[in-house]
Amino acid sequence: MSTIWKSRYALRTLGIRSSAIRELLKVTQRPEVISFGGGLPAPEVFPVERFEQACHKVLAEHGAESLQYGATEGYEPLREMIARNMARYGILSKAENVLITSGSQQALDLIGKLLINAGDSVLVEAPTYLGALQAFNVYGAQYVSVPVDDDGLLTEQLESSLRLGPKFMYVLPNFQNPAGVTLSEGRRHQLILLADKYGIPIIEDDPYGQLRYEGEHVAPLVVLDRENLRRDNGFTLGNVIYLSTFSKTLAPGIRLAWIVAPEDVIGKLVQLKQAADLHTSTFNQFVAYEVARDGFLDQHVKLIRQVYRERRDVMLHALEQFFPHEVTWTHPQGGLFLWVTMPEGVDSQELFRAALAEDVAFVPGDCFYAGNCEDGGRHMRLNFSYSEPEQIREGIRRLSLAVKMQLHRAHAL
Ligand SMILES: Cc1ncc(COP(=O)(O)O)c(C=O)c1O
Repeated sequence: MSTIWKSRYALRTLGIRSSAIRELLKVTQRPEVISFGGGLPAPEVFPVERFEQACHKVLAEHGAESLQYGATEGYEPLREMIARNMARYGILSKAENVLITSGSQQALDLIGKLLINAGDSVLVEAPTYLGALQAFNVYGAQYVSVPVDDDGLLTEQLESSLRLGPKFMYVLPNFQNPAGVTLSEGRRHQLILLADKYGIPIIEDDPYGQLRYEGEHVAPLVVLDRENLRRDNGFTLGNVIYLSTFSKTLAPGIRLAWIVAPEDVIGKLVQLKQAADLHTSTFNQFVAYEVARDGFLDQHVKLIRQVYRERRDVMLHALEQFFPHEVTWTHPQGGLFLWVTMPEGVDSQELFRAALAEDVAFVPGDCFYAGNCEDGGRHMRLNFSYSEPEQIREGIRRLSLAVKMQLHRAHAL
């Protein structure tokens, strides 16, 4: 280890650890391992041919422009298309409200840079998206955690936490990562009202909203916020910043996502993004626009829904078939993950090691809690989008062997 560098690391780096998921996933690279670990899309659904055609067209028609530096805000036609697409879900915005980012992960980093002073507290769900914790940790965030149940964030437990004055709330209303649960409509209204009562803004992270396999679409928080505005002029516009991404609907490798926010917030974020990377890849934005246009994105999302719905169902059936009755799991209406809860006494890190011995992997639940987690130790996150149905069945069978062994040990203690 080179001490000349180590002694010069900035204070903000001290609390940073490498992502537990990345470390775990390294172990799962062996080809014989069936991995329910990463949040990877199914490679079979990537629209490779459409990308190939789009690349040719972009280079033929906009070669120099697409290879040039671009505006920090993003490629105008892409921002307009995003604004039009979101309007169908009631999210009324103009291109000026849309900032293109290099993945939602960059959006989370920019939001941390914009809002968090060291020591500020951020209200998060328990469990929550690990990548957001990593992004906010760099800025010295502290956390107030509020648990989720099958209907999402427990809004009845929110008020006492809001009294502590968190800087903002970070919420995943649709098919939450990692728990797979969806915030009910009633709780969405409650959340918006409480946010307004205590003057606490919301970051709504919605990478999976379009991947619904059953049930009715529920209005996003950013929409309910505006509806409240129309009902009562006392409400402030723009209490919610909304994030989404092309990672799950087109391909994560293009690193394209967007932030929707009031224009003045976008202006400030643009300055921060400029400092970070000047702008998101011009070429990728041109290509994504070309791929997504003329209704292709809608058509493609339909295909993804079909494929993932089947995989979710296969996993749910296999869990029913192979897992002991003391173990429970969520029934996600969409997204990529489900969340398994084991009885007291089972340690998911030990289970992880036992599972690897059976050539199957998942992410232990304790990774997804800010600060101290009381019972994260007996949960696991299972991804159902990546593996093919036959592998899912076999993977759950293998995992059930490890689970039964751990249960047996827990009972014997
Ligand atoms: C909740 C959530 N937010 C953000 C991201 C990051 O997405 P992106 O690939 O756009 O950076 C993910 C990725 O899995 C996610 O699950």
